[in-house]
Parts: sequence; structure tokens; C-alpha cells
Amino acid sequence: MCAFERWILLELQVMNSPFNQEQVELLNRLLPTLTESQRTWLSGYIAALQGTAAAAAVAAVTQANTSAAVSAPVATAAKEVTVLYGSQTGNGHGLSKKLSKKLEEVGLQVTMSSMSDFKPNNLKKLQNLLIIVSTHGEGEPPDNAIPFYEFLHSKRAPQVDHLQYSVLALGDTSYEFFCQTGKDFDKRLEELGGKRLTPRVDCDVDFDESAAEWMNQVLLSLNEAGTGSLVVENGSAVALSDSTESEFSRSNPFQAEILENLNLNGRGSDRETRHIEISLEGSNLQYEPGDSLGIYPENHPQLVDDLIAAMGWNADEVVVINKHGEARALRDALLRHYEITVLTKPLIEQVVKVSGNEGLRTLLEPGHEQELRTYIEERDLLDLVQDYGLQQLPAGEFVSILRKIPARLYSIASSSKAFPDEVHVTVRTVRYEAHGRHRYGVCSVQLAERLEAGDSLPVYIQHNPNFKLPENPDTPIIMIGPGTGVAPFRAFLGEREETGAEGKSWLFYGDQHFSTDFLYQIEWQRWLKDGVLTRMDVAFSRDTDKKVYVQHRMLEKSKDLYQWLQEGACVYVCGDEKKMAHDVHSALGSILEQEGGMSPEEAAEYLTLMQQQKRYQRDVY
Ligand SMILES: Cc1cc2nc3c(=O)[nH]c(=O)nc-3n(C[C@H](O)[C@H](O)[C@H](O)COP(=O)(O)OP(=O)(O)OC[C@H]3O[C@@H](n4cnc5c(N)ncnc54)[C@H](O)[C@@H]3O)c2cc1C
Ligand SMILES: NC(=O)c1ccc[n+]([C@@H]2O[C@H](COP(=O)([O-])OP(=O)(O)OC[C@H]3O[C@@H](n4cnc5c(N)ncnc54)[C@H](OP(=O)(O)O)[C@@H]3O)[C@@H](O)[C@H]2O)c1
Ligand SMILES: Cc1cc2nc3c(=O)[nH]c(=O)nc-3n(C[C@H](O)[C@H](O)[C@H](O)COP(=O)(O)O)c2cc1C
Repeated sequence: MCAFERWILLELQVMNSPFNQEQVELLNRLLPTLTESQRTWLSGYIAALQGTAAAAAVAAVTQANTSAAVSAPVATAAKEVTVLYGSQTGNGHGLSKKLSKKLEEVGLQVTMSSMSDFKPNNLKKLQNLLIIVSTHGEGEPPDNAIPFYEFLHSKRAPQVDHLQYSVLALGDTSYEFFCQTGKDFDKRLEELGGKRLTPRVDCDVDFDESAAEWMNQVLLSLNEAGTGSLVVENGSAVALSDSTESEFSRSNPFQAEILENLNLNGRGSDRETRHIEISLEGSNLQYEPGDSLGIYPENHPQLVDDLIAAMGWNADEVVVINKHGEARALRDALLRHYEITVLTKPLIEQVVKVSGNEGLRTLLEPGHEQELRTYIEERDLLDLVQDYGLQQLPAGEFVSILRKIPARLYSIASSSKAFPDEVHVTVRTVRYEAHGRHRYGVCSVQLAERLEAGDSLPVYIQHNPNFKLPENPDTPIIMIGPGTGVAPFRAFLGEREETGAEGKSWLFYGDQHFSTDFLYQIEWQRWLKDGVLTRMDVAFSRDTDKKVYVQHRMLEKSKDLYQWLQEGACVYVCGDEKKMAHDVHSALGSILEQEGGMSPEEAAEYLTLMQQQKRYQRDVY
């Protein structure tokens, strides 16, 4: 039975439909008298009408940038659509849920699945495939996309001539391989014979608008293809507002008060790590261990002032900060609204457009890729305007090409069961020198230097279903988290203590020096004493002549670690993505080979299987 048929079997009332009393009465008299062929004809007729209306409405919305919901299911034939997502930090998963809901609302039969749960052999059976996938590492697929990505790019991938597909690629223009994974999927499906339903859309960190536009295009295309039909109410289109309990979200952050801001490192340490406790009281924001806190930071006032001075601008000049025409004083806009610390190729392309600067134009030409890469690394907007003499550009025009300042994510370090209405984070301060200037991490330095208890800052919860405690409280857990990577494990153990979970737990922690850098030492010791934490192994890298890292400790304890894996332990890795996560992955492989007698291929397969079973999860950055 299609959605239309299900729909007409309902007794229409004013309460369960968008019609008024008179229309309800008319429809209730008419609908039961229709034959099947009359119903089919009528639904096709309505679909054709709506197709035109919807297209007009979406165009109007895109222009006016309003947002409300696509609704009212009236499908001609409930066709199947598969939504596959590959997501590391939760954005793609959240968007997939929203898309699936919208597709169901227009009467389509939707199967939504993580790429890791999707059986690749089913690919040849699909007719409509929508892919939402982010890019991680340096242009690599997120963990839960890897098996499907590899299958699709292998010789085993089938021809998919009957497949209609579209890709929404999530990424960040500050990475060289922008949206690479989405691009790869898009290209590969075309090579295999698939037909694009709508063109791929590549999203930067501020993805709401582009993602909503892609969803609208997909809905309209499915509609045109006779796959469903949709009604767009009041000239409105897909809205991406979060449907969580709280009214606060990434696009509407909560102004939260700081309760505590402490340095966890001892005197003499090279590092500064702030433990920050934040009140969520009144926000109704909910989180679970493994989720992250998003924080919208402010730029360093000194850098803003230096930039204004270098450009010869007037700090009080009023500039427009978005397409709704909102205006701010220039200094305020540069402090709170725009990114001024990162140079990217797309930004330089824009600067060339507005300035016509020949030196910069040359930098963008083919053959200058390495020069461009070297130039933009560790340089900011102040360097750019000084090095290329961009002083003459008007402020309003210049700021309009800048990217909105992106939020920073921090792994939540508290259990809300242990600290109701609070959230804790562990933030390492980023300070370094480059090109003759001190450089300051925007968010970490604001937290370290310019915010104290009583101040407030805009936050939201970034849910991450890919980094979660096992459902069974008896399952053993192995946690590997050097440096700030230890943060979520404070939340994990806090939660297990509160819930009285009985499963064994093992923490591998490392940092530079035992005496100054042992983050949350007293808490681990208490949990060890109380049995909440079963084992702990530490690697202080700079207390010995030879560096010792967490993976060295894992290898030393390989027998026991293998035993835990055999008992069904879940493995969690958090912290540095570039080196540590790769080395820990290799160490796990070596342990499987050494203790389990596996070949390298079998060990790799075992880890992939663990990932698919959510027994191996990573929160790496
Ligand atoms: C899911 C997730 C969870 C995270 N959890 C945590 C956490 O729990 N704790 C935590 O501290 N961070 C965490 N981070 C990192 C955090 O989001 C920020 O990236 C970090 O705090 C830096 O932000 P910033 O604004 O201070 O620095 P930015 O202004 O963004 O500058 C950071 C950039 O500076 C450059 N840089 C940094 N150090 C150097 C150096 N020594 N030499 C040259 N260049 C350098 C790098 O390009 C780096 O990307 C997490 C990230 C993600 C994605
Ligand atoms: N993307 C971002 O914007 C961003 C921002 C901040 C941090 N990060 C990353 O997050 C990581 C976490 O930073 P952190 O300051 O908390 O800790 P960290 O730099 O990872 O240091 C923690 C411990 O890990 C050790 N270590 C270094 N290389 C390792 C390896 N290959 N394998 C295992 N351990 C290794 C360090 O030793 P030694 O120092 O003695 O070598 C130190 O003892 C940083 O490495 C950084 O790359 C990313
Ligand atoms: C460690 C790390 C590496 C990343 N690498 C890339 C990259 O190479 N290319 C890119 O376009 N985006 C990159 N991104 C940005 C993500 O793709 C972007 O934040 C996306 O919205 C994440 O979606 P997800 O939460 O569904 O994983 C990276 C993000 C992180 C945290």
C-alpha cells in the first residue's frame, strides 16, 4: 500500500489534515468513491501540480533564505530511497537523519544506514542512493565509511547502470583535500554507470544552508522522477534546525556561564591545559559521554587591532555581516564574526578577485602549488595584507569574502549523571611562533587568557554516535588517550561510576612528564582504588632517554590486551589523529598478529570487523 493509499484510508478531519471543515467534508465524500485507477490518476495529477509549485517555492526560499518544513505526504508510488552516511564527528549522521525524515514525509520508503552497516552486495539492487559523507585525516574517509569506500574502489564493485544517486560532501576549505571523500564517491559511482539525480554539493564547515539546498534539490528531483511527490508549505523548504529537545544548537548556541577555569599542568611544564567547567543550566542541553562541546570563539583583540591598523581602516565603520543585512562595527565583526587566522586557496582566489593583485594571482597559477601550500601554512590575514600590499581595499568589500569563524569542538570530559547541568572540557593551549610572530590558537588562548569564572561563551552539543560506551555495562573497555585525548575517558568512567557498571576498564595514558603533565591524576587513582578503573598504564615520553608512548605500553602488555579483546572488550582511541592514532592502530595489528597468530591481512580484517561492530571507535583530531 502506498502512502497515498494509506493516507486516504484515514478518516480526514480538520485536526489530522491541513484542510478546513468544508474541504474535509468534500474530500471525505469524494475519496471513498474513487476507483484505484481514478486514485492513481488523481495522485499523478496532484504530483504534477506540486512539482511546479514546489520548484517555485524552493526557488523563492533559496532567495529569501527562509526556512520551514517540507511536509504533507502524497506519494504516487512509494519508491525506495537509501541514505548512506559516513561520519566521524556526527555532522553527517545528523544530516542523514534529517534527510530521511523529510523523505519519509513525502511518502518515500527510506532505508538509512551507516556505510559500515551497509552490505555492499546490496548496491546492485538499489535504485535511488543518497550519500552524505565527510572527509577526515588528509583527504581520507571517516572510519565508518572505509569498508564501503574500499569496496566501491575495488574490482568487486558492480556496474550500477540502473542507479540514480547524489552526494552531499562535508568538509572544510582549510584542508587541502577539500571534500575529497565525497568527490571520490561521486566520481566512482559515475564510473560504475550510476546517473546523478542532482549534482554533488560540497559543504564548508558552515554547512546548514548548502545542505538544505542540496536536500531541496534531491526532493525535487525525486519528485520529478515520479518517485514521490511533495508539498512545500507556505513557500518554505527543508529546514535544518536541530530537532533535539533543546532550542539551542550549532546555529543557535547557548550563552553558557563558566564556573571554573583551572590549569591542570604543574609549574615548569611546557604545556598549559585548562580544565573548564561550564554551566548548562536553563539550556535543556543534553549530552552523553563521547559527545563534544562546540564553542564559538572570539579572535584575539590584538590581532584584530593590528589588522585594522595595517589596513588603515576605521574600527567603528559599520559593515554588513550576512546576507540578511545585519550590520556591526568593523572591530566587533572581526572579533566575533569572521575567521582571520586561516589562509585557504578559496580565500586567496576571492582576494585576487576583489584586489586584482598580480603577485597573488601568480601564486594561484598552475605550477605554483607547492609555493601556495608553503605560503598559507602558519600565516594569517595580517601576513597576507602586509606581504601583498592590500592596504587600499575597502573594509566592507574585504570582510564580505571572509569565512564565518567556525566553532571549535572539545571532547566532553564529564558525565552529566555525575554533574547535572554542567559540562567539562579539557583544552590544551595552542601557542607557537612562526614567521617572526607569536601565534595564538583562537579558542584555546581565549579560554586560557581572556575568560574566567563568571564570564560566558556561546556553546552547543555536538552529538557523536560514533564514540559511545557499550550498551552492555558488563563489556570491558580499553581506553587509549594520551594528552587531551584522555578527556572523554573522564566522562566514560564518571558515567560507569554513576550507573554502577561492572565491566572491566583499562586506561592507557601518556604525556610528557609525570610530575607536571599527569592530567586528572587524583581522579584516576581514586577510580582505581574504587574499582571503577581496573587497570592503568602510563607513558611519560620525556622522563626517560628514550621516548615511551602509549603504544609501547600496549605492546608490553600484549598478552593481557589480546585476552581482553577475546573477552569482547571495546577499544576507544582519542587524541592526535596525525601520528598517535595511526601508531596505535599499527600496535593493535601487531598484538593481533603476535598473540592471535594472525597474518597482517587477518589482523587488518579483525580490526575492520571490530570497527563495524562498534568495538573499535575513535575520536581523533
Ligand atoms: C572531535 C574533536 C574533539 C576535540 N577535542 C579536543 C579536546 O578535548 N581538547 C583540546 O584541546 N582540543 C580538542 N580538539 C581540538 C580543538 O577543536 C581545536 O582544534 C584546538 O583547541 C585548537 O583550536 P584553537 O582555536 O585554539 O587554535 P586555532 O586557531 O584553530 O589554531 C590551530 C591550528 O594552529 C596550527 N598549530 C597548532 N600548533 C602549532 C604548532 N606548534 N606549530 C605550528 N602550527 C601549529 C595548526 O594548523 C592548528 O590546526 C578537538 C577537535 C575535534 C575535531
Ligand atoms: N586539529 C587541530 O586543530 C588540533 C589542535 C590541537 C591539537 N591537535 C592535535 O591533538 C593532539 C593532542 O594534543 P595534546 O597536546 O593533547 O597531546 P600530544 O601532543 O598528542 O601529546 C601527548 C603525548 O603523546 C606523545 N606522542 C607524540 N607522538 C606520539 C605518537 N606518535 N604516538 C603516541 N604518542 C605520541 C607526546 O610525546 P612527545 O610530545 O614527547 O613526543 C606526549 O607524551 C596534538 O598532537 C595535535 O596534533 C590538533
Ligand atoms: C581531524 C580532522 C581532519 C579533517 N580533514 C579534512 C580534510 O582532509 N578535508 C576536508 O574537506 N575536511 C576535513 N575535515 C573537516 C570535516 O570533514 C568536517 O568537519 C565535517 O563537517 C565533519 O563531518 P562529520 O561530523 O560527519 O564527520 C577534517 C576534520 C577533522 C576533525
